[in-house]
Amino acid sequence: MAKKHILVVPGDGIGQEVTLVGKKVLDKIAARFGHEFTYDEALIGHVAIEATGNPLPDASLEKMRKSDAVLFGAVGHPKYDNDPSAKVRPEQGLLKMRKELGLYANLRPIKLFDELLGASSIKPEILKGADILFFRELTGDIYFGEKGRKNDGNTAFDVAEYSRFEVERIGRKAFEAARTRRKKLCSVDKANVLETSRLWREEIQKLAVEYPDVEVEYQFVDSTAMMLIKDPRRFDVVVTANLFGDILTDEASQIAGSMGMLASASIGDGTGVYEPIHGSAHDITGKGIANPLASVLSAALLLDISFGMKEESELVISAVDKVLKAGYRTVDIADKTTPKENILGTEAMGEAVLKFL
Ligand code: IPM
Ligand code: MG
Repeated sequence: MAKKHILVVPGDGIGQEVTLVGKKVLDKIAARFGHEFTYDEALIGHVAIEATGNPLPDASLEKMRKSDAVLFGAVGHPKYDNDPSAKVRPEQGLLKMRKELGLYANLRPIKLFDELLGASSIKPEILKGADILFFRELTGDIYFGEKGRKNDGNTAFDVAEYSRFEVERIGRKAFEAARTRRKKLCSVDKANVLETSRLWREEIQKLAVEYPDVEVEYQFVDSTAMMLIKDPRRFDVVVTANLFGDILTDEASQIAGSMGMLASASIGDGTGVYEPIHGSAHDITGKGIANPLASVLSAALLLDISFGMKEESELVISAVDKVLKAGYRTVDIADKTTPKENILGTEAMGEAVLKFL
């Protein structure tokens, strides 16, 4: 029995709807295993801007630092997307949280539940058995370098920067993870063009000497994008920089059938943050149809990584598996063969998971 304090940060759009389900799952686990989970909530993103003018108020950051883990939703609002001149944006809250909490490693497991083979637009025979763990660097690169305008605003720049220690610390995490899996690591860069990528490769090569049991390959990001679709099973652990990781993991989500299924863990120096990889999805917000399974699987990652509760985590994953085996789907993962009555909304899908827990 353990006592833990969890901060729920729903953020914007469907973030509100799906974290509600993730929290219920944590509650159920606490009840079943006799743990005591306490909760608090904090604002981030557009809702925080509306309430305070700040996408990540100090009070939220303070609560994050003090909690044992953060269950996160999503940030974003369409009103900013078509307004490049907006000075304050919801995404700034997310980036600041990553930086301030030192969340340098973003783990994005891409695993296809067998029942969803038909939901992907990739052929089942190419997909079956695909199981990839991405390590996306999260606090460096072009995301955090100097940015601005010059020539009277007619030229814009974003600087990409990496230091050795930043590559080393995420590289080490990726090698360690590979050791517990199929012992293959693919480091993705653009070393034929970018200086940051050449430094990246040097550091991974140095680490490789320390992990002779892990088979390492180096790939360029463009050809990796192609190989992910052509032969996803060739990958085990993939480690890459912030921007490449952002793009490749959205692509790889199609291997898992839907973005609505993918969870991620952001870890580093302190509190870990667990969130779906999908965004705020304002097009479906408020309709009650968002897939909550990515938030449920985020809760599973939280239990495993931040609390060391392996058994509890596996139970959550197996409940998701059972729900899918029983034929239940949200609309994003349904296909032509799904009977109408098996297509569930957010809440009903949550209830189905709870039932199997
Ligand atoms: C993600 C998102 C964010 C990112 C956005 C919302 C800033 O796409 O977490 O992948 O680019 O990192
Ligand atoms: Mg992204």
